[in-house]
Amino acid sequence: MKEIILKTLMKSDGFISGERLSKELGVSRTAVWKNIKKLKEEGYSITSVSNKGYYLEKETTDLVEEAIRMNLGEMTRFKKICIYETIDSTNSEAKRLRINNNVDEALVIAQEQTQGKGRRGRNWISEYRVGIFTSMLLKPNIHPNEASMLTLVAGLAVVRAINKVTGLKPEIKWPNDVVINKHKICGILTEMSAEMDYINYVIVGIGINVNNTTFDQSIEALASSLKMVSGKEVSRLKLLTVLIAEFEALYEVFLINKDLGFMIEDYNQVCININREVKVIEREKVRIGIGKEVTKIGTLIVTDSRNKTFTVQAGEVSVRGIHGYV
Ligand code: BTN
Repeated sequence: MKEIILKTLMKSDGFISGERLSKELGVSRTAVWKNIKKLKEEGYSITSVSNKGYYLEKETTDLVEEAIRMNLGEMTRFKKICIYETIDSTNSEAKRLRINNNVDEALVIAQEQTQGKGRRGRNWISEYRVGIFTSMLLKPNIHPNEASMLTLVAGLAVVRAINKVTGLKPEIKWPNDVVINKHKICGILTEMSAEMDYINYVIVGIGINVNNTTFDQSIEALASSLKMVSGKEVSRLKLLTVLIAEFEALYEVFLINKDLGFMIEDYNQVCININREVKVIEREKVRIGIGKEVTKIGTLIVTDSRNKTFTVQAGEVSVRGIHGYV
């Protein structure tokens, strides 16, 4: 009912009376009023004026379920889209959908995560209605060795989406982070369940700091948000919609090619590690060099001080700048 009322309001140019809504939709005026109230609580700006009725002032920029479904519905490959007010972790929920409900592909979105997961067992602070927290459950027909490339596909999709929606120019800290002015804006957590030569599922989880104005002390030196950088509130709805569209466009080509040749030039252009000093941390071993290029299979080529080249595999090591995070 809420969705039908929203659609009717969207279609109407001016005010529409409660009486007309109730007649057209065959429900009581109280039901109309209750659903309008719900829509308002979700962030829609609906003006009610007595004797005139209801008027939807502008499209919401918030991640409200009807708007997400409407925006994504027309373009997405994801037949199953699950949207939560609150969830422990969208990655965990995607995993449950696979294991308990036998779903192959799904998009999970949450307004808030109570146990948002970061890489290496860290947590991802996920403030209510401030950031984007989404996970894509995928079943790509590729070899398990090729799955780490999906993190790079997602990284480029995030960069493109942020650029399109805000005009900002983010960079990728290979392979998992998106940064602006050397501050982390987005983290990607890719998880996989596979046998030796067969993928059961891959989950690509993306967290973007969108409208945060402060950060926890533990991360404030490293993190930033799109709002903090641009000085403007950013539409999470638009950003999410464009992000999923950008990801799907790249993902479809990747599934055919099974490598990143088609996007690697663009990737290298926005990769912050290229021609910069990097510190490659592999358990107790630390190597320093200059990042040279990311290859079409997603590895990072580094040259050390004796001009010897070595290759770094995504997922196996942590790459930092020699003086800090980048
Ligand atoms: C990192 O940089 O450590 C990766 C962070 C990934 C966070 C996202 S938010 C959506 C998805 N669900 C999670 O629990 N984690 C990822």
